Amino acid sequence: MIETKVLALVAGVSTLLFLAHSAIAAPGPSSAWDATQPRWEWLPNYGPFTNGDRGRYLNLSSGVDIWYTSFGQIESAKTPVLILHGGTGNSNQMYSQANYLAKTRRVILQDTRGQGRSPYTGFSNFHYDDFTRDAIALLDHLNISQVAVLGWSDGAITGLDLAMNYSSRIERVFAHGANIQGNQSIPGLNDPIINSDTGSLDSNIESHGTTYSTKGNFTTRATGSDPYTCQNLSPLPSRCDAMNQAVQRMWVSEPTWGPEALATIKCPVWSVDGDHDVGVQRNQADTIAAWIPFAGQLILPQVSHFALLQDPTFFNFALGYFLDMAYDGQLPYY
Ligand SMILES: *[C@@H]1O[C@H](CO)[C@@H](O)[C@H](O)[C@H]1NC(C)=O
Ligand SMILES: *[C@@H]1O[C@H](CO)[C@@H](O)[C@H](O)[C@H]1NC(C)=O
Ligand SMILES: *[C@@H]1O[C@H](CO)[C@@H](O)[C@H](O)[C@H]1NC(C)=O
Ligand SMILES: *[C@@H]1O[C@H](CO)[C@@H](O)[C@H](O)[C@H]1NC(C)=O
Ligand SMILES: *[C@@H]1O[C@H](CO)[C@@H](O)[C@H](O)[C@H]1NC(C)=O
Repeated sequence: MIETKVLALVAGVSTLLFLAHSAIAAPGPSSAWDATQPRWEWLPNYGPFTNGDRGRYLNLSSGVDIWYTSFGQIESAKTPVLILHGGTGNSNQMYSQANYLAKTRRVILQDTRGQGRSPYTGFSNFHYDDFTRDAIALLDHLNISQVAVLGWSDGAITGLDLAMNYSSRIERVFAHGANIQGNQSIPGLNDPIINSDTGSLDSNIESHGTTYSTKGNFTTRATGSDPYTCQNLSPLPSRCDAMNQAVQRMWVSEPTWGPEALATIKCPVWSVDGDHDVGVQRNQADTIAAWIPFAGQLILPQVSHFALLQDPTFFNFALGYFLDMAYDGQLPYY
């Protein structure tokens, strides 16, 4: 199990590192799909925000500097949305969701400490609890009392951490590609929903063919140079490699949540994942849905861990639907 998670996620990171070092891609989405490759193997480019990527720093008293941006319909009656990107990345991974939501409400994005435009200095080890406290510090700074959260991967884990510990600040969480155990060992052989032998649909690629497999290969759709890399965004690009290694160390040891921790989440949550995600195993999405009282589950079709870039139309539709659903404060929504 440990190898599966580590190898899979490291494969993803190596791809990102490869992209970071090869000046090939143009900003923004590129044009047509290449029909010779399944959608779940594509890794589309990140893109710009409709506010021209204007942002600021929140310089915490601890010496950690957090880059953030906030835009959209500031006066909207809809709850603002805090958007949290994936590990080793930056907020522009979420540009399609941010620009979509900003048409109708306020969005807030932070580059996770040490990642993207937030320099890797002032601390050594990465912890989800620190990302969580940083997000609260940012909301305090902006005087925002409550948000909905859209999180991807590490951002989704942080979204769950927020909902566990700051329930009054978090209205609901759309958690895409989260895991609750760094080594994905829980629930192991006892997946509460699919109850497979291994707890994972993709665990036996050799005998089950390639339907659920990306074989560790993602192909960029890029056609020019990509400005959205750590090397290009960070005020301390010399620290990007060290950041990547330190984030991978976090991935093997965190999080370590069981049913008791997830049961403390009282807000609505959708546990979301791509049906071809080979980085985070299906047992994690199933467990999150089963152990959080008001959780629902959404498995997105024919996409991987990168679903929000591979099929933004469907992803954004589901996201908007979730955010606009009524909720009576006690029971799931109608
Ligand atoms: C805040 O952090 C950024 C990024 O490290 C830095 O460039 C800026 O000088 C800092 N501002 C202050 C007031 O310390
Ligand atoms: C949030 O709650 C979980 C589960 O109790 C705990 O492990 C974690 O340390 C908490 N995080 C913060 C930031 O307090
Ligand atoms: C937050 O509220 C405080 C106190 O009312 C105010 O001084 C500060 O300027 C506000 N900050 C923002 C970002 O609106
Ligand atoms: C990835 O793609 C390359 C080039 O097509 C191929 O040589 C390699 O075997 C693939 N890797 C895996 C793990 O399938
Ligand atoms: C996975 O990590 C948990 C701690 O979260 C630990 O208790 C368990 O022994 C680990 N499982 C394996 C197979 O290493």
